[in-house]
Amino acid sequence: MGEVTGVLGLDADGVVEVLTTATRAPSVHNTQPWRFRLGPDRIELHPDPTRRLPATDPDGREVRLACGAALFNLRLALQARGIRPLVSLLPDSAVAEVRVGGRYPADEETRALLAAVPLRRSNRKPFHDAPVPAAHRLALVRAAERERSWLHVMTDREQRSRLRQLVARAHRAQSGDPGVRAELDAWTGGRPADGGVPVASAGIRPATRDDWALRDFRGREREPGKDHESDPLVVVLCSFHDGPLGGVQAGQALQGVLLTATASGLSASFLSQPVEVRPVRDELRRALGGAVVPQAVLRIGFGSPVPATPRRAVPDLLMEPAVR
Ligand SMILES: Cc1cc2nc3c(=O)[nH]c(=O)nc-3n(C[C@H](O)[C@H](O)[C@H](O)COP(=O)(O)O)c2cc1C
Repeated sequence: MGEVTGVLGLDADGVVEVLTTATRAPSVHNTQPWRFRLGPDRIELHPDPTRRLPATDPDGREVRLACGAALFNLRLALQARGIRPLVSLLPDSAVAEVRVGGRYPADEETRALLAAVPLRRSNRKPFHDAPVPAAHRLALVRAAERERSWLHVMTDREQRSRLRQLVARAHRAQSGDPGVRAELDAWTGGRPADGGVPVASAGIRPATRDDWALRDFRGREREPGKDHESDPLVVVLCSFHDGPLGGVQAGQALQGVLLTATASGLSASFLSQPVEVRPVRDELRRALGGAVVPQAVLRIGFGSPVPATPRRAVPDLLMEPAVR
């Protein structure tokens, strides 16, 4: 357990608040694969290699996505305190170092996104059958663009049906992989107490008639007639770079998109199977034209409330100060 000290002109309580906001980011199976190191003039964000899922995430791509999402939250929390974050991305070692790049008051949009941080949840429940309005879609696309990423909205019928097949194929591959199954098992159903996907957040049990194969977190049995929505908005978040930098950039974009959705009253959940299974990801990339790199697949719509998932306490996430 590390000691929280004041940094970047914040006192210790301010630092705890800012880091707590960072940790409200999503991560695969709620593994929370991030750590922080406090220096007198910086906050460093590092991946936590002990939290990577070797079978589900063999090259740490999802660790970098989660850390990128935490970095986006950290930036918002600092901006809301009048600090312009000066971010150095270090995707090959630490994820990023954040210093003070100036001071100015936060704008309205920053405040709206920050207010959405504690409200955002992965919502695996069925959505209402109302379509997502075009203006909301555009706001999501812009949110990804602002973070140097690309949001591919799957409106084309053929592309959509191709993606549905790829989700199903990757889902089957992972269901037959004992390593992936063991990781899902280890992080499902209230274990550990400060991580994983609790039963209350698991959504409903999957059924073979489902159009989109959601991951089975052993949720509630489905009541008769309570199926998933017929036509959710499905988007593929892509980076322009392959490799570590693409992951960290896409992670920030992911959180920008998710918070923009939350601020617009939308809910979202992930369909990660086709980006986790390498040959399927390569095929998805080709199906999208070959240039951009698919990083996350999201299902978006109007949902009903779901509870927040647990997080580790900030002192448990602090690394020892660096010896320089
Ligand atoms: C890279 C990444 C991949 C994810 N993949 C899935 C997925 O395939 N299925 C799913 O239901 N949730 C997925 N999630 C959502 C996490 O399970 C969720 O973020 C975590 O349990 C914390 O809950 P919260 O998002 O409600 O805060 C993913 C999250 C991230 C960041």
